[in-house]
Amino acid sequence: MRSDTIKVWDPFIRIFHWSLLGLFTLSYFTGETEGPVHAWSGYAILVLIALRVIWGFVGTRHARFSDFVRSPAEVFRYLKGELSGNAPRTLGHNPAGGWMVLLLLVSILATGASGVIVLGLEGGGPMAGRIAPDGWIVSVGNTFGEAENHADGTGHADDDDEHEGERKSEPTDAMAQANQPHEASEDAWEEIHEFLANLTVLLVVLHIAGVILSSFAHRENLVRAMFSGKKRAP
Ligand code: HEM
Ligand code: HEM
Repeated sequence: MRSDTIKVWDPFIRIFHWSLLGLFTLSYFTGETEGPVHAWSGYAILVLIALRVIWGFVGTRHARFSDFVRSPAEVFRYLKGELSGNAPRTLGHNPAGGWMVLLLLVSILATGASGVIVLGLEGGGPMAGRIAPDGWIVSVGNTFGEAENHADGTGHADDDDEHEGERKSEPTDAMAQANQPHEASEDAWEEIHEFLANLTVLLVVLHIAGVILSSFAHRENLVRAMFSGKKRAP
């Protein structure tokens, strides 16, 4: 058996995959916690995805996008073949799995990027001060750090009453308030971020189902192959 196996997944792909699983789980379950773990595991994921995209162009044979991104017609033919039990076995990702890989990469990237925006609107991370209060316009410089805040009725009225006379003599307090972007846009981006995180989870569930079905269909343990890097030679 050992002699007729062939190396399919290089060490980078295997380390990428299992660290992504760990970091994604960590990110997902720290989303509602205070503290730096959530953002830092998210950054690590973004770095992993960036490296994986580069590896998709310059990496080993089955890591390359050109090896596994097939036309929709081929995906359709493959799925029809799977249903009738005579789909050809592929060494790298099968045509349907290839598109799932792309969807997962895009969805994780969008989740991470939207997280950076949420943090930016909260005044932290690399996007702090670079997002307009409406939550859309993004600037390269710190253009929006001192953007004017329009009253949004979220308790600021009480403050105004209490500090009516002090306002002018305490410009730092007023500045701090002016630096707060609209809470509405922060809430909207939080919703978008949460939605994308859950969409990724849905894709992961489909991904794992695909792996299990494909393992049975071709009588081959694909999970073990993602650890060892090896598959049965054709
Ligand atoms: C228990 C959980 C998981 C198992 C058993 C699993 C298993 C696998 C297997 C066997 C492959 C290779 C598929 C093939 O042979 O074509 C694969 C690929 C992949 N999986 Fe998973 N996976 C899991 C969780 C995840 C999670 C949580 C993510 C993302 C958040 C993920 C993202 C990917 C990606 C992007 C690939 C493509 C690998 C590449 O070419 O770089 N997986 N997975
Ligand atoms: C790519 C992996 C990521 C996943 C799976 C993820 C997942 C989540 C989830 C599930 C929540 C909770 C949403 C809610 O219930 O309101 C959340 C919140 C949040 N995430 Fe992420 N996130 C990721 C990356 C990031 C990154 C890269 C950043 C910023 C650098 C970030 C910043 C935030 C912030 C600021 C919140 C709001 C916390 C709060 O104030 O309630 N996330 N994330």
